[in-house]
Amino acid sequence: MMSCSLSFLSYCILLLVLAFCDLPLEVESRAFFVFGDSLVDNGNNNYLLTSARADSPPYGIDYPTHRATGRFSNGLNIPDIISEQLGMEPTLPYLAPQLTGDRLLVGANFASAGVGILNDTGIQFFNIIRIGKQLEYFEQYQRRVSGLIGAEQTEQLVNSALILITLGGNDFVNNYYLVPFSARSRQFSLPDYVVYLISEYRKILQKLYDLGGRRVLVTGTGPIGCVPAELAQRSTSGECSVELQRAAALFNPQLTQMLADLNSQIGANVFIAANTFTMNMDFVSNPQTYGFVTSKIACCGQGPYNGIGLCTTLSNLCPNRDIYAFWDPFHPSERANRIIVQQILTGSSEYMNPMNLSTIMALDSRT
Ligand SMILES: *[C@@H]1O[C@H](CO)[C@@H](O)[C@H](O)[C@H]1NC(C)=O
Ligand SMILES: *[C@@H]1O[C@H](CO)[C@@H](O)[C@H](O)[C@H]1NC(C)=O
Repeated sequence: MMSCSLSFLSYCILLLVLAFCDLPLEVESRAFFVFGDSLVDNGNNNYLLTSARADSPPYGIDYPTHRATGRFSNGLNIPDIISEQLGMEPTLPYLAPQLTGDRLLVGANFASAGVGILNDTGIQFFNIIRIGKQLEYFEQYQRRVSGLIGAEQTEQLVNSALILITLGGNDFVNNYYLVPFSARSRQFSLPDYVVYLISEYRKILQKLYDLGGRRVLVTGTGPIGCVPAELAQRSTSGECSVELQRAAALFNPQLTQMLADLNSQIGANVFIAANTFTMNMDFVSNPQTYGFVTSKIACCGQGPYNGIGLCTTLSNLCPNRDIYAFWDPFHPSERANRIIVQQILTGSSEYMNPMNLSTIMALDSRT
């Protein structure tokens, strides 16, 4: 009797072990998904016929490979640094042919330079992945992963993932304010345009939730009136464009409010507001405090503030990218991106609402 139950026990253990061995590979660390524009694109536009691209030198000059990868940075961009800080592999662009098999389980980057909340933003860039299409690709991604690990595990992977979405800047810079008397500026006053943008953004975030997103960092727009490109076009003595700063000042608080509304409707803190306006404004207002020689002149570019045209091999190029807040006329340098990510990770409620990423990671590791 005794030996019988013992052997029954070992039989059970054997069954258990076999069952575990049969399980599809466990999802080990948290997946990371990225949506949005050039601030977070890490190379999708390389695969498209578009003028919004960063796949030639001097882009990537400080990247580990020293090659241009499609990132709008001298080195790493914001999602890369988040991955690095959380000990995760950087996500591959969704369109990269290498994104297959197990690599899919790390996550994916769906962002595309030039896009905005609205479909008519960035039309001058021709072929870019608008946000609706990025979300369609996310569905396609989930079908592909289901084929690898099954539907249930895929849902689990997506529900427990960290998501970053960055949109809005282009809806001003590459739409409303792109040309004087743009179609959108004739249609809407600025305050009405912002209300419209927020209502469209809400639908996008609702869709992301419906697709399984449960931890979503949402950045606001930076100080779009202070970027070298706008200083070159609109500034006489280096002051930020009042009009574009007003746009950001209207947009960002309404975004934070909309995220809070969504969270209370859902009954959970799914959406986290990252106040990238203030994060950027800190070093834009006091560059020296942060070790920058300037926040007005881009490292790479030409014309006033190096703010005209594109950053190419023919542009002025600063020798030390670490002492410039802006790498090109629109995008922060890797060092500026590191300051931003540090605030995302550990910032107070002035920067991260309702909590910072360290707190999120600690909370989620307990569940
Ligand atoms: C944007 O385009 C997509 C795909 O064509 C469409 O489904 C969506 O309704 C459009 N959004 C707006 C605000 O028109
Ligand atoms: C942010 O993160 C730090 C730890 O890195 C923590 O001490 C602090 O309380 C957090 N702040 C908020 C507002 O969550």
